[in-house]
Amino acid sequence: MRKVIYPGTFDPVTNGHIDIVMRAIDLFDEVVVTVAKNPSKTSLFTVEERVEMLNVSLKNMEGVFVDSFDGLVVDHAREIGAVGIIRGLRAVSDFEYEFQMALMNRKLNDDLRTIFLMPHEKYTYLNSTIIRNLAQFKGDISDFVPPIVVAKLKQKFPG
Ligand code: COA
Repeated sequence: MRKVIYPGTFDPVTNGHIDIVMRAIDLFDEVVVTVAKNPSKTSLFTVEERVEMLNVSLKNMEGVFVDSFDGLVVDHAREIGAVGIIRGLRAVSDFEYEFQMALMNRKLNDDLRTIFLMPHEKYTYLNSTIIRNLAQFKGDISDFVPPIVVAKLKQKFPG
């Protein structure tokens, strides 16, 4: 049983994240998508809301689970018995940050592998900030996020 962890802020989950989960579950027996309580980011959605949106969006995917954590990714990975950390690489601009994080995580736990997966190129320009901005100004986000996210963003930005 090879389990991996896919950590992120997921504020909110996008189709680009789901694309990565689908690629990861093709390779591993279990993927735990884990919502980070990232103190350096101000989030629109609470951790509970982000977990709920992920659970609804990923409910039909066998072997995929959702949880949250507060602390270091490497500690949570160890707690749940993950052998690796999944990260998405969308563009060269992601590389430096991801490289730094992967090396630090390796320093913290040399047994844990970081696995980089590329989402479909149609998601290259996507991130959660763009989705929040589009929703705030009533842009159409339905091509980029699951229906539950469209509904939740409508509640956050009514009118
Ligand atoms: N499709 C669409 N968007 C994607 C994406 C994909 N496949 N992959 C990443 N993104 C976007 C995210 O939506 C997010 O957008 P935003 O900044 O506009 O909100 C952005 O890329 C960053 O991605 P994310 O994966 O959420 O990374 P993060 O920088 O928020 O960090 C953790 C998440 C969990 C890895 C990090 O906070 C962390 O490690 N926290 C724990 C502390 C720790 O262990 N620190 C030591 C690390 S060395």
